[in-house]
Amino acid sequence: MDTRQQSGLCQSIAGDVKLGEDVKIYNFVNLYGCEIGSRTKIGAFVEIQKGAKIGTDCKISSHTFICEGVTVEDRVFIGHQVVFINDRYPRAANGAGQLQTEADWTVESTLVQRGASIGSGSVILCNVTIGENAIVGAGSVVTKNVPANAVVAGNPARIMRYCEASPVHELTTQAVPEPWPIELKPGR
Ligand SMILES: CC(C)(COP(=O)(O)OP(=O)(O)OC[C@H]1O[C@@H](n2cnc3c(N)ncnc32)[C@H](O)[C@@H]1OP(=O)(O)O)[C@@H](O)C(=O)NCCC(=O)NCCS
Repeated sequence: MDTRQQSGLCQSIAGDVKLGEDVKIYNFVNLYGCEIGSRTKIGAFVEIQKGAKIGTDCKISSHTFICEGVTVEDRVFIGHQVVFINDRYPRAANGAGQLQTEADWTVESTLVQRGASIGSGSVILCNVTIGENAIVGAGSVVTKNVPANAVVAGNPARIMRYCEASPVHELTTQAVPEPWPIELKPGR
């Protein structure tokens, strides 16, 4: 893998990462084999694995882990230390006692739909869809689909109420100038 360090910054962004326009990335980020949409911001200590897709105008807060099989649509907010899961029954070793490889298990997918927000410290189990504009409360464990515009919280996450549909879809997209440490150009 053509992994390289940005000059003077501690980042690992593999050559196979597809970056949109004006993606902003903090230090200690590890990206490989994923797609990041334009203007999305990625906080420090975030890891995004191969096959994960992040839409445009998203905010991914520090210490979050986004694994293979996760698709995040446009304008999604992901808080700090959010963890996604793609293997419901993980094992270190296969039946022969050897370390598992990709041949020994199947990725289970997750979809976070447009405009949704996920509170800090949440864990998102696999095979779930978080609906448009839904809000997941801090510290939740999401085990089932979350309907559009629902506010859910707890372990397991339960619907608290519904919020009004957000005007997010009508917003025009404008890059807001901020003192980010690095601006990467597309086409890498
Ligand atoms: C889920 C959330 C949106 C609910 O906000 P709200 O509708 O204003 O809820 P309230 O503060 O009025 O609380 C309502 C009830 O839910 C409980 N509650 C609120 N948030 C909760 C959470 N994350 N987990 C469990 N219970 C929660 C409250 O204790 C309260 O319980 P009670 O009725 O027994 O007193 C909000 O609390 C939250 O967690 N937001 C995410 C914030 C976040 O992670 N931001 C990341 C960037 S800093």
